[in-house]
Amino acid sequence: MGDRTIVITGSTGGIGKETARGLARLGARVVLVGRDPHRAAAAADELRRHTGNDAVDALTADVTRQADLRRLADEVGARYGRLDVLVNNAAIVRDRRELTEDGVEAMFAANVLAPFLLTHLLLPTLRAAGRARVVNVTGAVPRGRIDLDNLQGERRYPWFINQTKRALMAMSYEFATRLPGDEVTINVAYPGHAYTDMNRNLSAATFPAPARPLVPLLRLVLPIAYGGRAIEKASRSSVRLASDPALSGVHRTYVDTNGRPTPWPRCAVDARNREVIWALCERLSGPLSTNGTFVCP
Ligand SMILES: NC(=O)c1ccc[n+]([C@@H]2O[C@H](COP(=O)([O-])OP(=O)(O)OC[C@H]3O[C@@H](n4cnc5c(N)ncnc54)[C@H](OP(=O)(O)O)[C@@H]3O)[C@@H](O)[C@H]2O)c1
Repeated sequence: MGDRTIVITGSTGGIGKETARGLARLGARVVLVGRDPHRAAAAADELRRHTGNDAVDALTADVTRQADLRRLADEVGARYGRLDVLVNNAAIVRDRRELTEDGVEAMFAANVLAPFLLTHLLLPTLRAAGRARVVNVTGAVPRGRIDLDNLQGERRYPWFINQTKRALMAMSYEFATRLPGDEVTINVAYPGHAYTDMNRNLSAATFPAPARPLVPLLRLVLPIAYGGRAIEKASRSSVRLASDPALSGVHRTYVDTNGRPTPWPRCAVDARNREVIWALCERLSGPLSTNGTFVCP
């Protein structure tokens, strides 16, 4: 993969960093993205040393901030000229509803809107690669209902992460339906569980009230069940979708923890869900490219 450039959001730690490590081992130029320049530089340095691949770079962006996503897309275009793979891996969990500076609920902003907006902004750079891939990382409980009255947690917030990941899948399915897939493919990876900052920092308020007494037990069990090699294992579905030559041209596909195609949840394919979520993403993200051109039909 020596001639490939890959951008991975949320890759200074957790599953994103393991995904970056796996792809750097395959020889790709890997661009890490996190919020903090020092953490990003330190992670890039670690990956360069561990993999022997000097082509590991670091950029910074907070995926909840649309201004950061626009700057990131401009930087990637200017520095690399073409992008072979974008892995929208970063996601956040909050235990109480808060709005970003753009006025968007924070989990929806990071987990749904950021993949939508960053993919749109990078489409010209992805198209410049000739044949490019976008991998969106899902999680939590991807099957179940999408509550269209609660897309930004206006009514109910406990376990809202599930709702955002289902919305991400519906948005991804719709995006892939609108893109022909001959130049840029869009697929979704399910990583499985790993003990990372995301679940290390979960507070009881994230859970529905009846489940809260179980949280101290979860804190004991999670590091045992999902520590160690689980993080590397959780990176495999993204690494495979990003790099496997056998998956070249595979489009609008959802893969399991082993990178095997698996049926989409019904909520992601549902036409009404896709229509409402797409319209909301369009409304919240403003102009879709820096020069005002609408880059995706
Ligand atoms: N862990 C699991 O069990 C699990 C299960 C299913 C699905 N997933 C999915 O796998 C993906 C990775 O999860 P993870 O557990 O590795 O998460 P994580 O440990 O919380 O990820 C940490 C990474 O995310 C970055 N990050 C956090 N907030 C950010 C923001 N606002 N903007 C940009 N980067 C940000 C951090 O960068 P800085 O702190 O340096 O900014 C760091 O690089 C997510 O999509 C998650 O939903 C995880």
